[in-house]
Amino acid sequence: MFINNAMLSKYLWLSLLPGIVYFLYSLDFIKEINTHLADGTLNVVDIIYFGLNENSAGQKIFTTNELKRYTNLENGLYLSILGKVFDVTKGQKHYGPGGNYHAFTGRDASLAFITGEFDDNGLTDDVSSLSVRQVKALNDWVQFYNTNYIYKGKLYGRYYNQNGSPTAESHKVQEKVLLAEKENSLEEKQKRMFPPCNVEWNPDTGTIFWCTKRSGGLDRDWVGVPRMFFETANMQSSRCACVKLDSKEYEENKAMLREYIGCAKLATKCIVEIK
Ligand code: HEM
Repeated sequence: MFINNAMLSKYLWLSLLPGIVYFLYSLDFIKEINTHLADGTLNVVDIIYFGLNENSAGQKIFTTNELKRYTNLENGLYLSILGKVFDVTKGQKHYGPGGNYHAFTGRDASLAFITGEFDDNGLTDDVSSLSVRQVKALNDWVQFYNTNYIYKGKLYGRYYNQNGSPTAESHKVQEKVLLAEKENSLEEKQKRMFPPCNVEWNPDTGTIFWCTKRSGGLDRDWVGVPRMFFETANMQSSRCACVKLDSKEYEENKAMLREYIGCAKLATKCIVEIK
């Protein structure tokens, strides 16, 4: 059969079609249209603004309505935490229908990751009631999902705007995380300077504090003496710390240290009655 140039270019184009379809499929574009068709929600507004929206970095931006679709094994199991969306389908024993943590799917229930309250009030993305430490614990969950599951994009709402840029509330959360990290590293530093004492309580004798070269789980070449260590400026609460009296650290932090009443100045073991 005679094939002229015009026909050749027509068939060449057709031969590229499967490749184009595969490419679009790999971008989730066609899968997305399928999902919308299946649940009857495909419309122009959805395509332009919502369902198929991606920001300039190529990340998908979910709406709360769209995320709601991902609560079953047909569409997949997705959850959002601090506005980051993860595909947790491979953890279906936890997140699938009937699983203990199914309530996390199809929404952002960040607060419940810390409170463990899975009722309507608890299943919210508002974490403004959480302390600095709790927000850090929540951020650790985000790391957990980053490590163990597939990151899918961002949720448009409290933590990200339509372009996927973080909102003011997201910055507040990140500030809390940074503060918690600073506090943790200060605590670590203080723990190395003043390792915790060994503690034992005995109803006959009272509380016994003592120091060894390994107390507090910190191996060192000195033993130290037990002292009350007030870690915060308000001097409300203290812990027992092993202190090396001939050290620069002791000289610099004397104001935060107190001797236990009834305990000899150089004793490595103190029996204290705590009232
Ligand atoms: C604030 C409360 C809690 C939250 C937010 C929470 C959340 C979770 C989540 C999200 C998972 C799934 C992790 C994954 O994807 O692999 C999980 C697993 C698990 N949780 Fe919880 N949990 C809570 C409290 C508890 C408590 C109190 C217990 C035990 C009494 C518990 C026992 C377990 C166990 C055993 C698994 C692992 C199951 C397995 O790997 O087969 N959780 N938890």
